[in-house]
Amino acid sequence: PLVTTGELTARAAAARSAVAAFNVITLEHIEAVVAGAESVHAPVVLQVSENAVRFRYGRLLPLARAAVAAAERAAVPVALHLDHVRSDSLLRQAPDAGFSSVMYDASRLPYADNLAATRAAADWAHAQGLWIEAELGEVGGKNGEPPLDAHAPGARTDPAEARAFVADSAVDALAVAVGSSHAMTTRTAALDHELLKELSGTLDVPLVLHGSSGVPDDELAAAVAGGIAKVNVGTALNIAMTGAIREYLAAHPEAVDSRSYLTVGREAMARTVAGILGVVDRTTS
Ligand code: G3H
Ligand code: ZN
Repeated sequence: PLVTTGELTARAAAARSAVAAFNVITLEHIEAVVAGAESVHAPVVLQVSENAVRFRYGRLLPLARAAVAAAERAAVPVALHLDHVRSDSLLRQAPDAGFSSVMYDASRLPYADNLAATRAAADWAHAQGLWIEAELGEVGGKNGEPPLDAHAPGARTDPAEARAFVADSAVDALAVAVGSSHAMTTRTAALDHELLKELSGTLDVPLVLHGSSGVPDDELAAAVAGGIAKVNVGTALNIAMTGAIREYLAAHPEAVDSRSYLTVGREAMARTVAGILGVVDRTTS
């Protein structure tokens, strides 16, 4: 069934667990995330990023309609989240498209501007009944920038600043920079667990880890134990899909039917989803 991101995240936080949120780009991503979650009986978030909307010729609705339909028919609770939104016009499409939550990303702006833009987005979102996540202390590697060194001093969220930001912006959850970086293709990130402990002790909203594809299993499990309640995963699905398709086409140079390789790509993504849920969702089996 279709549920809300707010309830899944709150339930996870109360259980000292995390809900996993997977970025979907194609119908196969949507089907794989739902199948993977069903295979381990875990709730899941389907998230669509502004970059994915751009890839879909700038149109949110075709993919959103597919995600809503998949969620409604799923055997596990599934929520829809709009991810890394920078454009106000996209933000405003969220409620009608079936999304219960948005991540409003003004993290590239200086603090005061990030706060003002986020506060305005949060006021609008709350008036619509949406749950809103924001980011402070930019997690690098977005939009093709080279991934930041996981220990780069710039890529960290300051606890005192975060406390003021959450209070003044009224957001429901905060994405924190604790050593992960977007779009990593190796699982080599080392997280700053001391900082995470400090942040989770200081803040009373759920914390979100971005760039989780680059975080090894043991580090992910430690991050959840340390207070991360939502784990965002994108690149890991693309690695799984592309790798499986590449292998299939190399072994079957005569293949023509797109269903043949999309099937193996979808199955590989579903296995990745199940594996990550097994690490971060401490309420499953
Ligand atoms: O918001 C999306 C996530 O932060 C995805 O990051 O592609 O590095 O896993 P990733
Ligand atoms: Zn992200």
